[in-house]
Amino acid sequence: MIIRPRRLRRTAAIREMVRETSLSQKDLIAPLFVKYGLKEKEPVSSMPGQYRFSVDAIVNEAKELWALGIPAVILFGLPDKKDATGSRSWADDGIVQRAVSAIKENLPEMAVITDVCLCEYTDHGHCGVIVNGEVDNDATLELLVRQAISHSRAGADIVAPSDMMDGRIAAVRKALDSEDFTNVGILSYAVKYASAFYGPFRDAAESTPLFGDRKSYQMDPSNALEALKEAQLDMDEGADMIMVKPALPYLDIIRRVREISMLPLAAYNVSGEYAMVKAAEQKGWIDGKKVMMEMLLSVKRAGADLILTYFAKEAAQVLSGKEG
Ligand code: PBG
Repeated sequence: MIIRPRRLRRTAAIREMVRETSLSQKDLIAPLFVKYGLKEKEPVSSMPGQYRFSVDAIVNEAKELWALGIPAVILFGLPDKKDATGSRSWADDGIVQRAVSAIKENLPEMAVITDVCLCEYTDHGHCGVIVNGEVDNDATLELLVRQAISHSRAGADIVAPSDMMDGRIAAVRKALDSEDFTNVGILSYAVKYASAFYGPFRDAAESTPLFGDRKSYQMDPSNALEALKEAQLDMDEGADMIMVKPALPYLDIIRRVREISMLPLAAYNVSGEYAMVKAAEQKGWIDGKKVMMEMLLSVKRAGADLILTYFAKEAAQVLSGKEG
């Protein structure tokens, strides 16, 4: 007798019956950029199909995403001015704060997540304050806390610290609780690698560091045990959800973190992963939509519950049969 696995691949109906992993619009979180002083929107050249939005335009975009079944957005801000400490990041009239309020006013049910980090707001482009030429951990914590509180005041449902300072989840949780924001959740970028795949994002968010790199705070791509340590620390410090970033080159890490965590696990399919697919698609070298769906599925199969992805809208269109 021959064992014949192909029997279960014979028809579409049978394949559907035995399918182990599924992807839904509900798994997707759309990253959006909001920029001060814009009229409507401007394209991000290194990320075809992505834009920097004005506050009004971001509300319209969020409405479209919501109508497609996407439950959440994560916001990144490009402020009116940058300085050494990133002070526009915790201004109550800051660009992200205004976008959060506007989206919540128009779409109260949509989950609004904010990226909490200083790199888009500092004139040197690092994710923390510089003391004696180095990114100072504990001085940065105070500023991240201010930013998280200000986002919460604007109406954010979830704050997402992405800076990779030590102790930030405990610091943010404590501060939110003491300001009566006990209902604001924390999605921790717990495992974030110092990756070359962030290139297009830094272009989109104008956040490339002026000197040096982020290797003294983001993780070394060679390390896996350290990822488990980082994930465990953030679970212990009170994160509600944790994230691995980037996604595709770190599917093994997603799987390993999944195995030690009881929290919802997110993965960030980052700008470089998006840009590669778009570039090859434009050249006619791959079928972009099929590659997109296979990529997203692989991230779920690895163990992620949620995917932050610039493909959110396009994938939701495919999933809902409303292809644009
Ligand atoms: C830092 C931050 C970065 C991304 C999300 N939050 C960039 C970085 O660490 O340089 C990258 C996301 C992407 O590449 O899509 N605030």
